[in-house]
Amino acid sequence: MFSARPHRKFIVAFAVAATLALVSAAAPEDPDAGSTAIPNRKVADMLFELALANRKVYTRDIVQRLASGDGAITASEHYLDQRGLPLPAQVFRLSAEELLGSTDDFWLQLRALDPINFANGPITPVEEEGLQFVAENPEQPFYAEERGLAGRPSLVAVYADVANVEACVTCHNSHPKSPRRDFKLGDVMGGIIVRVFLD
Ligand code: HEC
Repeated sequence: MFSARPHRKFIVAFAVAATLALVSAAAPEDPDAGSTAIPNRKVADMLFELALANRKVYTRDIVQRLASGDGAITASEHYLDQRGLPLPAQVFRLSAEELLGSTDDFWLQLRALDPINFANGPITPVEEEGLQFVAENPEQPFYAEERGLAGRPSLVAVYADVANVEACVTCHNSHPKSPRRDFKLGDVMGGIIVRVFLD
């Protein structure tokens, strides 16, 4: 005898399938699909480019330009006592300190495995891993996520900082506080670390 049951089952199954199709259309798997959100790695890359440009301009258009001729003003580690200009690395550290007070969205640091200034050493195992990675792969940025600082989730991006002029090498190799004295031109001396907080 013909029963109404299979027919009803079919209708229920059809309704469930249609509902699922609607729900999956409303909530696509990729949360950024169709939105204008910038991926976190891209944000880190952009902040790195900005930091690099600022350091380059400071070195080329201020430090190098004022260092010659009458009334030369030179960059020196002891710039406060000597009424000179801070070193580019010191400007970087001062900016990092400013950022700590002005934003908790990201942080920029110039760090090294063998730093002149002890405070510029890696502060988490992931930073250390990143500095080691870029030392061996200078062309490639390092990215990793961690709950590093105050348990806050963050993306850590590390970019190689290379000795591109002889002065980098001579100053670091002869600095009394430098733990490493065998730098050569072209060596990776440290890394720019961009931390983007994800919470
Ligand atoms: C006149 C000396 C001098 C020159 C030239 C110099 N540095 Fe440094 N550098 C320093 C000092 C001093 C510090 C520590 C600054 C601080 O107090 O944070 C430093 C810090 C750094 C750091 C952070 C880790 C650390 O050692 O504390 C890196 C990376 C670095 N320098 C790379 C470079 C590169 C690359 C160049 C060349 C483009 C360069 N430096 C040129 C003196 C110098």
